[in-house]
Amino acid sequence: MNIAFSDRFLNMLKTARRVVVSTGAGVSAESGVPTFRGADGLWKKFRPEELATFEAFQANPQIVWEWYQYRREIIHKIKPNPGHYAIAQMPKFFEAFDLVTQNVDGLHRAAGSEDVIELHGNIMRNKCVDCGGLNDDREFAQFPPLCRCGGRLRPDVVWFGEMLPASALERAEKVSTSCDIFFSVGTSGVVQPAASLPYLARRGGAFVVEINPEPTELTYITDEHFVGRSGEVLPAILEKIKSVRSRSLTAS
Ligand code: OAD
Repeated sequence: MNIAFSDRFLNMLKTARRVVVSTGAGVSAESGVPTFRGADGLWKKFRPEELATFEAFQANPQIVWEWYQYRREIIHKIKPNPGHYAIAQMPKFFEAFDLVTQNVDGLHRAAGSEDVIELHGNIMRNKCVDCGGLNDDREFAQFPPLCRCGGRLRPDVVWFGEMLPASALERAEKVSTSCDIFFSVGTSGVVQPAASLPYLARRGGAFVVEINPEPTELTYITDEHFVGRSGEVLPAILEKIKSVRSRSLTAS
């Protein structure tokens, strides 16, 4: 893909010490994971209040589990795309690199990213509503499944109205506030508190970059908006990182 890189962006890539990449559903779109909003988004076909709230789970655990099993099946069949792989290669070029995701699909880890700040949990993990125990069982003796303690199991994801895992959120806020470049990739930027991270970065003095085929709520505060698919733009940025960072390493 032929992408124009501004001198300002290239200079930031060359000098940045601390980098944060924050991803949303769009980074997995080219792997075949449906996004939430937009014409074919999941929330166009399903009602979030019937599927992604604790109240819905209490009222009808069977339906909520079936919805998550359906999404697990989609995710089991797919693979990371060049965008995930490009991100996985970035940490070695910077003094500090943090990856924050709203995605629950585990594709960053599958691509080789070792340390992923998962703000909305992980769809492949289960959590007991009573004892809080975690497991990644996929076959269940009964359905909807129960924990060994007898409590009800639920997917370990954040539902609407629930708090994010405190340690993940604290870490995401801390690294966003102190980074030099903040990349917002494939998110509509409307779901809080993840949507605040680029603003924290901006307030902390970071250069804010967006990668998204569409303009979003965030676009007006960005320093650079790459209009394109992350599976194409991120590998091109990785190539630039390789060339400018290896040159600056040789020069020092
Ligand atoms: P959305 O579905 O709201 O937004 C996806 C974004 O990805 C849109 O801005 C698209 O334009 C963009 N996009 C689509 N294809 C792309 C591609 N190939 N490359 C780059 N960008 C692309 O998804 P999120 O912002 O991640 O929360 O949604 C945030 C949260 O809302 C989710 O984590 C989920 C949902 O409700 C919970 O379930 C708690």
